[in-house]
Amino acid sequence: MSSRRIGSSTFSVLLPGSTRCLLLLSGLCHVISGGTDRDRVHDLMSRYPLIDGHNDLALKLRIHHNNRLSQVDLHKLNKVTTDVSRLRSGHVKAQMFAAYVLCGSQQKDAVRLTLEQIDVVRRMCTEYQDFELVTSVQGLRSSMMNKDKIACLLSIEGGHSIDSSLPTLRMFYQLGVRSMTLTHNCNTPWAESSSDLYAVFQRKNESLTHFGKAVVQEMNRLGIIVDLSHTSWETAFSVLNISRAPVIFSHSSSYSICEHTRNVPDWLLRELKKNQGIIMVNFYSKFISCQKEANVSHVADHFDHIRELIGAESIGIGGDYEGAQTFPHGLEDVSKYPALIQELLWRNWTEDELADVLQRNFIRVFEEVERVSKELGHTQTSEVEIPLKEVQNPCRLVLEPPKQREVTTLKNPFSRAQSRKPVLLILAVALLVST
Ligand SMILES: *[C@@H]1O[C@H](CO)[C@@H](O)[C@H](O)[C@H]1NC(C)=O
Ligand SMILES: *[C@@H]1O[C@H](CO)[C@@H](O)[C@H](O)[C@H]1NC(C)=O
Ligand SMILES: *[C@@H]1O[C@H](CO)[C@@H](O)[C@H](O)[C@H]1NC(C)=O
Ligand SMILES: *[C@@H]1O[C@H](CO)[C@@H](O)[C@H](O)[C@H]1NC(C)=O
Ligand SMILES: [Zn+2]
Repeated sequence: MSSRRIGSSTFSVLLPGSTRCLLLLSGLCHVISGGTDRDRVHDLMSRYPLIDGHNDLALKLRIHHNNRLSQVDLHKLNKVTTDVSRLRSGHVKAQMFAAYVLCGSQQKDAVRLTLEQIDVVRRMCTEYQDFELVTSVQGLRSSMMNKDKIACLLSIEGGHSIDSSLPTLRMFYQLGVRSMTLTHNCNTPWAESSSDLYAVFQRKNESLTHFGKAVVQEMNRLGIIVDLSHTSWETAFSVLNISRAPVIFSHSSSYSICEHTRNVPDWLLRELKKNQGIIMVNFYSKFISCQKEANVSHVADHFDHIRELIGAESIGIGGDYEGAQTFPHGLEDVSKYPALIQELLWRNWTEDELADVLQRNFIRVFEEVERVSKELGHTQTSEVEIPLKEVQNPCRLVLEPPKQREVTTLKNPFSRAQSRKPVLLILAVALLVST
């Protein structure tokens, strides 16, 4: 009794001083541990800098500057959350830049607009010494070893960009495109979107048509990563059933944590794991907390959940900067990725797991996509065409021999060529006979 009283009185006497001392110590501790934590994140991200799966800077360049690169300095941009200097402070060493054109361009000039967005990304990544456009794993690796460069990967966001044409897909590959989401917020004639914002090409129960399957197969053969962000879950499931290569969700989060149809439900994540693909977590507040506001903890909850379900080897990061309106407190722009890594370290993620998330998982998928492509490379180029009735619209010209009236007036160069055919034939026969 007495000793306890003494103890408590001793305690009360000492309280003010010890509190001060504790505060001082904890303050010091905080400074020291804060410093060490920050150093630890910095050190980790220097060794394993980030490859981010999705950024819409190209869209912002069109909206704000009509793609006139000469008007801006990409080192420092005001109206946006992405620029070279912030990419560097965020330890972003490779960025997938999306060529995205609005769904409203479907059945209009989506292909031209996509070419223009590809052009602006290519210009950005070749006219600036800070960037380097890469189109292979080898290129990506060597660019990431060069401390001066940020590697650019080129993706297409929305299958409407190929206007239901495999030759168009192949030409995009030639321009450096290495990933494509099968849809954006609109269905295409061959795949279904997670959104019902647009009423076009309503699907009944065929979420990936025969032609849609051919698109996936041709992407596998070419070595274009199939990106399932924005597709409906059914479409994603059909793709996972047929893709020969691992796929990605380049910017999607967990439906269990935030019930938005743009996010991925657990059953589909388990299918993704079978495919050895990855989900690159999107930071958009609306997909993170299902509310206007979110913070780093909410984002980390997605990572924790997905890790628990399918393992850290299935996760990446696809911030969706420039593609979304609001970002979580603490992750406002591309310089802030270290805050997330710090939070995950605090939650006991190992450095090995974080290295996977930051870059190794994506590299593994890309490598596998290249391997499958090599394996399939000698199989035939696909000549599958979409049935005409599925794409009929006023902007689609069907090449056919000119009508009789046009032939006789000879106004149309095509008909003139037709009319010369007999002459050419006679010449050819004459040549053959003479040799
Ligand atoms: C759905 O598919 C089944 C065959 O699997 C077919 O019989 C049915 O007509 C289809 N329904 C619609 C609405 O397209
Ligand atoms: C998966 O693909 C196979 C053909 O490769 C097909 O027979 C099967 O119906 C598909 N399953 C689903 C659930 O789509
Ligand atoms: C994030 O917000 C939640 C409340 O929604 C709060 O409990 C949590 O402490 C916040 N985390 C950070 C890192 O601010
Ligand atoms: C992290 O691990 C330590 C030691 O194993 C443990 O004490 C702590 O509770 C863990 N923290 C979290 C957030 O799991
Ligand atoms: Zn998107």
